[in-house]
Amino acid sequence: MVANNTSTLIAVRDVDSLRRRVKAWRREGKSVALVPTMGALHKGHLTLMDRAQKMADCVVASLFVNPKQFAPSEDFAAYPRQENADFELLNSAGVHLLFAPDVNVMYPAGFSTNIQITGIGGILDGAHRPGHFDGVSTVVAKLLLQTLPDIALFGEKDYQQLVLIRRLVADLNIPVDIIGVPTVREADGLALSSRNAYLTPEERAKAPALYATLCAAAKSIAEGGDIAAVAAAAKAALLESGFRQVDYVEARNADTLAPLTSGKEPGRVLAAAFMGRARLIDNVPLSPQK
Ligand code: PAF
Repeated sequence: MVANNTSTLIAVRDVDSLRRRVKAWRREGKSVALVPTMGALHKGHLTLMDRAQKMADCVVASLFVNPKQFAPSEDFAAYPRQENADFELLNSAGVHLLFAPDVNVMYPAGFSTNIQITGIGGILDGAHRPGHFDGVSTVVAKLLLQTLPDIALFGEKDYQQLVLIRRLVADLNIPVDIIGVPTVREADGLALSSRNAYLTPEERAKAPALYATLCAAAKSIAEGGDIAAVAAAAKAALLESGFRQVDYVEARNADTLAPLTSGKEPGRVLAAAFMGRARLIDNVPLSPQK
């Protein structure tokens, strides 16, 4: 990470330095927002930073590719890493502090705690990526307790993660407001994701079918279509569009992620599917958001 003369962003790698900065802001009566990331920043992350700046005086971004949320067979080693470019992006975005800990700062020798959220943590992505949400819950709890921000912002693109983190802070009485921010999309509807970097040009051309299929399914369910039949048809449509494997397409209650019983409930249609080696996830509300 290279800070140059024009950088106003400060980077710290240890918890004491992070806490000292946050305490100094608190003494000045300033409010603090945290935006946790795994780096490889794109416009979606910058939207989170922008929103954070509108809602708080000081913004902390964290950058940590969390090994605990990747299964041994997953893409931890290949996950895109571009710390210098991320630093520049955050600096240009006016973020105040970057917390970029090494793995031994987050998980020193002897680290033994695992936060497991039953129910929400074991369904949908949790069923297909065993242990993933334990890793997310553990690292997010640590980041929140290390920073103690007033608010923390997460994208709706990872909708299940957002619902899970709301549960986590409620269950553990972590004094922070969790803010969900709508998904940022390319012009053709593809949700921005660091994993889009894995798509070949041909796969990239087919990938927007995920969003289109979810929108069509959400509309059918909101109009009274049979939920199971619509989900099955959406799964078939994704395979037809070039996705090689569909982990799930499901309609769920937007607040609890319990199976949706009617198109009149606040609902969300969620899916995960492989386009080539990229596992893409996306979700849409049942009715257009106001
Ligand atoms: O959404 C992400 O990028 C990660 O899951 C998070 C919240 C930063 C935890 O590692």
